Amino acid sequence: MSGGDSREGGGRVADGGPRSGSDEEGRMRITVRFGSDAPSAYDVLVGAGIVEELPTLLSGLLEVDRIAVISDSTVGPLHGERVAAGLRAARLRTDLFTFPAGEEQKTREWWSRLTDALLAEGFGRDGAVVAVGGGVVGDMAGFVAATYMRGIPVVQVPTSLVAMIDSAVGGKTGVDHPQGKNLIGAFHPPRLVLIDPVLIGTLPRPERSQGLAEALKHGAIRDREYLFALDSEADALLSGEVVAIERAVRRSVRIKADVVSRDERESGLRQILNFGHTLGHALEAATDYRLPHGSAVAVGMVLEARLGERLGITEAGAAELISTSLQRLELPTEMPVRVPPERVTHFLGADKKVRGGRPGFVLLGRLGEVHPGEGWVHRVAEKDVALLLSEAL
Ligand SMILES: NC(=O)c1ccc[n+]([C@@H]2O[C@H](COP(=O)([O-])OP(=O)(O)OC[C@H]3O[C@@H](n4cnc5c(N)ncnc54)[C@H](O)[C@@H]3O)[C@@H](O)[C@H]2O)c1
Ligand SMILES: [Zn+2]
Repeated sequence: MSGGDSREGGGRVADGGPRSGSDEEGRMRITVRFGSDAPSAYDVLVGAGIVEELPTLLSGLLEVDRIAVISDSTVGPLHGERVAAGLRAARLRTDLFTFPAGEEQKTREWWSRLTDALLAEGFGRDGAVVAVGGGVVGDMAGFVAATYMRGIPVVQVPTSLVAMIDSAVGGKTGVDHPQGKNLIGAFHPPRLVLIDPVLIGTLPRPERSQGLAEALKHGAIRDREYLFALDSEADALLSGEVVAIERAVRRSVRIKADVVSRDERESGLRQILNFGHTLGHALEAATDYRLPHGSAVAVGMVLEARLGERLGITEAGAAELISTSLQRLELPTEMPVRVPPERVTHFLGADKKVRGGRPGFVLLGRLGEVHPGEGWVHRVAEKDVALLLSEAL
C-alpha cells in the first residue's frame, strides 16, 4: 500500500488492504471494504476536475428519483450550486439545501430542519443525498441520509482539506451535543466519495493548514517519507497548488482507507488514527474549543511523541522532526494560549480511552510506525502525564 498508483485486477489486494489503482485519465480509485457479516464496499475517486463527472458516475451507480445536495452557507454559493446545476443539466431532479456554516451548527436542530425540508419536498426512499462541503457538512448530511426513512444513500463530495483527507472516508456521521462533540451519530458509509483537489482553491489558507495536521499524522503513523514530502512541499500545499494537494490527498486517502479496511479483521487498528488525539482532544476541550482541532492535534502529536521518547518507546528525535514539519505547515507546536494543567488532566480523565484511571496513548515506535502496545494503545502512569503537562503548559 505504498508507492505510486498501480493497475490491479479485481478483488482485495493480497496484503488485505483496499484495492487501489488509477484509470485512463490518471484518476486514483480506491475501493474501501467494510462490514464483516455482509461485506460491502465503496469507491473513493481522486482527480482534478472529477466533480464535473458526478452526474454520470451517480447515474451509473444508483437508481434514484430525487437528489438532495446538502451544503453550508459558505460552500453552497461557491460549489454546491454548481454541483446541483450539473445534476439538473443531466436531467436528475435535484434540490439544494443549505445550513449556516460552522461547527456550532452541527446540531440536532439543523439535522431536524434538514430532515423536515426533505419531507416537505416529498423526498422518498428512492432519494439520495450528495454532501458538498467540509467535515461539518459531510457529518451532518451523512447523518440526515443515515436516518431518513431508515437510511438513503449518501455521496460525499468533500471541499475542505480536512474532509478530503479525513472525514469523507470511513463512514462516521453525526452531530454534536452540548455535552460534547459527535455524541449523536451513526455509521453510514457513503456509496461514493469524489475528491476534486481543485475545490481547495477557494479554501482559506489557515483551513488548509488545519487539514495538513491530519496529513502529517498519517505520515507519522504509517509513512515517514510522506511526512518528509509534506515538509518539502509545504509552500505549495499551503497555497493550494492543485498538483501538490492532489498528491497529498492520494497518499492520505490510501493510508486512511487501508487502516479502516483492515480494522474489520484486525480489531482496533483504527486506534492508530488517534495519534496526537488523546492530548489533542483534551487541549481542545480545555480551551472550550477556541483552539481549532488541527492545531490541538499538532500540539498533541509533539507532546505524545515526547512522551513516547521519554518512555523509551518512540525513536529519539521524532518529536523534534514532527515539530519542524508542523512549523513549516504553519501549525503550532506548543500551546498558543495558557491552560491550567489540571484542566487538561480533567479532560484526559473524561476520554473514552481511559481505563483504570490511566489514559491510553497511541505512541510511535520509529517515526512512520506506531508501536503496537496493547491493542495499539499504551496505558501511561498519571505521574508521567502530569510531568509532561507541567513542563509543556
Ligand atoms: N466523520 C469523521 O470521521 C470525521 C473525521 C474528522 C473530522 N470530522 C468532523 O469534521 C468537522 C471539521 O471539518 P472541517 O475542518 O472541514 O470543518 P468545516 O466543514 O466547518 O469547514 C471549515 C470552513 O471552511 C469552509 N469551507 C469548506 N470548504 C471550502 C471551500 N472549498 N472553499 C471555501 N470555504 C470552504 C466551511 O464553510 C467552513 O467555514 C468537525 O465537525 C469534525 O468533527 C469528522
Ligand atoms: Zn483529527
